Amino acid sequence: MTTVSSAEHTRRDFLYIATAAVGAVGAAAVLVPLVAQMNPDASTIAAGAPIEVDLAPIADGQIIKVFWRSKPIFISHRSKAEIAAAQKVALNELPDPEPDADRVKQGHDQWLVVIGICTHLGCIPLAHQGEYDGWFCPCHGSQYDTAGRIRKGPAPKNLPLPPYKFVSDTKIQIG
Ligand code: FES
Repeated sequence: MTTVSSAEHTRRDFLYIATAAVGAVGAAAVLVPLVAQMNPDASTIAAGAPIEVDLAPIADGQIIKVFWRSKPIFISHRSKAEIAAAQKVALNELPDPEPDADRVKQGHDQWLVVIGICTHLGCIPLAHQGEYDGWFCPCHGSQYDTAGRIRKGPAPKNLPLPPYKFVSDTKIQIG
């Protein structure tokens, strides 16, 4: 006598709910144009709207230039040596005495943000040039240090600081 046993296999169908992922992508795609619309357009920025600048791509020792209210703004990612050079200067050596700490935001010594207009007659100085490796104005020879302070030449004042604040560790808002 032969017993035949048979096994029954239960087949399960797995349903992958792809629609959830598609839904998320769809929502993100909708958000992008909304966010883009919230940014001020070029004419609004020119009229004085605040601008945000991402600092993350600026390398140690690099200086970049952006425009705010049609003015050049220099953002310097100061190296340790540049910070040390700025901090060690005695105030009585400066034509427009200002400690380095007053030129940067507390806890962000590596970032110097200045309006890039020479305080003599308004030329745009050249970055990382001159005796102090800050800025050199080729128009009449003014020299600024790594804190943007006037050190030599006819300019009477330090490079001005624009109004700005840190909105995160790597992002500032100017204006
Ligand atoms: S405008 Fe810069 S030195 Fe005269």
